[in-house]
Amino acid sequence: MCGIVGYAGARDSASIIMAGLARLEYRGYDSAGIATVGEHGLAMRKKSGKLAALHESLADAPLPAAPTGIGHTRWATHGAPTDENAHPHLADSGRLALIHNGIIENYGELRRELESDGVAFASETDSEVAAALIGREYERTGDLEQAFRAVLPRLEGAFTLLAVHANQPGIIVAARRNSPLVIGLGDGENYLGSDVAAFVEHTRRAVAIGQDNIVTVTPASVTITDFAGTAVAAEPFDVSWDAAAADKGGWPSFMAKEVAEEPEAVANTLRGRVRGEVGSGVGRGVGAVGGGAGGGGGVGGEVHIPELDGHDDLFVDAERIVIVACGTASYAALVGKYALENWARIPVDVELAHEFRYRDPIIGPRTLVVSISQSGETMDTLMAVRFAREKGARTLAICNTQGATIPRESDAVIYTHAGPEVAVASTKAFVAQITALMLVALHTGRLRGTLDPQTGRLETAALQDIPDHIATVLAQETDRITELAHWMADTRSVLFLGRHVGYPIALEGALKLKEISYIHAEGFAAGELKHGPIALIEPGQPVFVIVPSPRHSALLHAKVVSNIQEIRARGARVIAIAEEGDAAVLPHADEVIRIPLTTALLEPLLTVVPLQIFAMALATAKGLDVDQPRNLAKSVTVE
Ligand code: F6R
Repeated sequence: MCGIVGYAGARDSASIIMAGLARLEYRGYDSAGIATVGEHGLAMRKKSGKLAALHESLADAPLPAAPTGIGHTRWATHGAPTDENAHPHLADSGRLALIHNGIIENYGELRRELESDGVAFASETDSEVAAALIGREYERTGDLEQAFRAVLPRLEGAFTLLAVHANQPGIIVAARRNSPLVIGLGDGENYLGSDVAAFVEHTRRAVAIGQDNIVTVTPASVTITDFAGTAVAAEPFDVSWDAAAADKGGWPSFMAKEVAEEPEAVANTLRGRVRGEVGSGVGRGVGAVGGGAGGGGGVGGEVHIPELDGHDDLFVDAERIVIVACGTASYAALVGKYALENWARIPVDVELAHEFRYRDPIIGPRTLVVSISQSGETMDTLMAVRFAREKGARTLAICNTQGATIPRESDAVIYTHAGPEVAVASTKAFVAQITALMLVALHTGRLRGTLDPQTGRLETAALQDIPDHIATVLAQETDRITELAHWMADTRSVLFLGRHVGYPIALEGALKLKEISYIHAEGFAAGELKHGPIALIEPGQPVFVIVPSPRHSALLHAKVVSNIQEIRARGARVIAIAEEGDAAVLPHADEVIRIPLTTALLEPLLTVVPLQIFAMALATAKGLDVDQPRNLAKSVTVE
């Protein structure tokens, strides 16, 4: 939440910062601002509304050229999205400008103290309190870094702060606690950003900043210290994707581009993690639900995750696995639970990260806590991981963002290689998360000796076929789903039903629709319907039903078909998502969307795709901005 950019170099900072903010706008888009420092002193402009409003204002009246600057795109926490509450905030009689991401929890008390000293505030934000305190210290010390060092111990909560001062041109001072900050290393210029997207078009050499560190950046130097002033060593890393990966590339939206990239996201997450034969598993997973062995022999390689070398104890010693995540990532976790329990025979609980630590959960050294986070910065998930570590649990992160805080603070990490995800609604990261969880489940099953090797090979081969299968769904079903969405543009509510691994997909289908089309949507376990929700069904009610493969479980399939009959008898309009060749579903559904054959546990990787396309098409039909839905931000860095 909130995007932050800083530049210190020789070029005109304003254009570089505006381009960086455009790449970070997914982090917040209710207002934006910029401050630069050059020969003329400090100049600042800020505007409520999307970044375009600031662009327009700068086009009408450009800031004087200046080689140092900071910029911010906001997701409001304290105070409405007005010009006054937009960042930067000024202090020291307008000579100091500061931007902030996070929440300063004790700001009320600090504000009262400053007000009683005669400080007048221009905004309702918690952030301006930090600006005022640092400004006051600057007046005393004449040095921005010293002012930071004096003030930071007084701030509670989460913050990334960047500040510039008119009297110290060429210098940006930054600090972070619990909120993200990355440095970009250039040649005669350096960058700061909430994530690498802020500067990846200029440099792919980056340094992640640790907890409670201060960074002083000039065109020629980067100095990192802890709050007490002790030097901190930091290892640079190379960003694994380039600026083109974070461009729309001709697609109507980032979401459309990212859904289209799903085959690649899965393939990249598998790459280098399967050794031995690369076989085709199409339709070969013929065992019972849970992936019993069967079918042809000798296909598929063996999962080997190099990042987990030396970490066997995490999986062998664990008595229990707890997966912590939020939103879409928590639905990926639910899918992972089925696979882990089936193949590794280990109890798995899935916990919403924000609920986890407030109920004193029973965890200890023999609990493996797996976090799932696209951004690696979600505050709720980060706090759950920290809590787990305090309790002595071991931690594994599944994350899509290199150098993010959650993987840095975990015992081990598996990166999903989905590439940058810019649209607020998570799509390609979701399928990459499920893919990573499948790899972990196969790995754990093998290590614990609970997974029959033949089943392991079949499932691995089937996993390797998923990219092609997703491409098939995209090619064959996009037009029809888009048409369906157009018919349904006036629908007021949509329900989603699933059983077994179809249940988390029903939840995800509903979440996607809610967040980008603002239509009421709910996902249910199909068997739960008769315990209450069936009362919602009235004539014409659209219901998506995820139908499990009859090849894997005739019983589950029959149960879902009977659930369809129950709702159809009450007038529901049923859109079934069923595998190719499932003829038994045809008489019971108004529409059938087909997915290719795969194994029972891998079906979510295919059944979710039509639901993502549907949500996107419906939002588009309603004329909504699918990439930047109202009230949301991509990376939720506040609790
Ligand atoms: C929904 C969505 C959110 C995120 C959730 C966790 O489309 O994107 O529900 O999944 O905020 O975010 P990460 O994965 O970054 O921890």
